[in-house]
Amino acid sequence: MIPILIDTDPGIDDALALLLAWGSSELTVGAITTVAGNVPVDVATTNVLRLLALRRPDPAPVVGEGAPAPLARALLTASGYHGEDGLADLTDWPEPARPAVLLDAISLIVDAARRLQRTLTIVALGPLTNLALALKADAEALSLVGRVVAMGGAVDVPGNVTPEAEFNFHVDPEAAHRVLAAGLSLDLVPLDATRQAVLPRSGMRSALGRAPGHLATRIQAFSERGFRIDHAGGAQGLVLHDPLALAVAVDPTLAEWEWAHLAIGPDGETLRGTGRPNCRVARRVDTDRFLRFFLDRLCPAS
Ligand code: RIB
Ligand code: CA
Repeated sequence: MIPILIDTDPGIDDALALLLAWGSSELTVGAITTVAGNVPVDVATTNVLRLLALRRPDPAPVVGEGAPAPLARALLTASGYHGEDGLADLTDWPEPARPAVLLDAISLIVDAARRLQRTLTIVALGPLTNLALALKADAEALSLVGRVVAMGGAVDVPGNVTPEAEFNFHVDPEAAHRVLAAGLSLDLVPLDATRQAVLPRSGMRSALGRAPGHLATRIQAFSERGFRIDHAGGAQGLVLHDPLALAVAVDPTLAEWEWAHLAIGPDGETLRGTGRPNCRVARRVDTDRFLRFFLDRLCPAS
């Protein structure tokens, strides 16, 4: 079993990554921490609670709320893609149960790092603000973590927010710089890889059709917005950025990896540099095997 902590800014693709994690028996999702990115952090937390109420994973993870803004700049959200509420602005989500006490994300990250050390994998699916703050709080604890898998960056391909910058790194370049400079066991899953992880509508439709029910209906409803916008942007389907990062945390062989030394530009550009490698970068993706992996686990027959 792989104990993981997921740091996330749900977000349509984050939501699919969470459902993938809860459908992966290799994982124990002990904690989920929220970060401002696609949506403000309180909205991200509401979406994690909505998804927990929808999927009811057992055991249920603890939830911690993180940074409301990037380290050193104003928050830029992606509500144009994910909707104002981050999950396609559906009108009929039931109000989720809220924990009596909302935990602090940074404390959760540091505590998990100290407790689980080499056995822990942290999967970061949004801006790296929380990880940077955890490093500031207790860098030694973070250095004990077995693996950090982060969706972010655009190494040899154009960005998706500026011509050179990917969203997660663009929202908080200072945090991305600190995480890359920290000497962590970092596996980066950039747009170079995630743009190979494209799910055709027919694939989603047939997978959900094999497991009809409330969960399938909700997945279809909130993912449709992503299909529509990605198709309009020229993709052949829904680009599964965060699900790919989660999938390679379970099975690294789903991608080929390259050691690289990367630096972060002023607007979150991902720059190749010289010197000791500071991360592994996912390159070629076994797309067919990844899509089967994703669809086999996303929505188990009820
Ligand atoms: O650039 C893609 C990333 O930005 C994904 O994590 C998506 O959820 C958005 O946060
Ligand atoms: Ca995300």
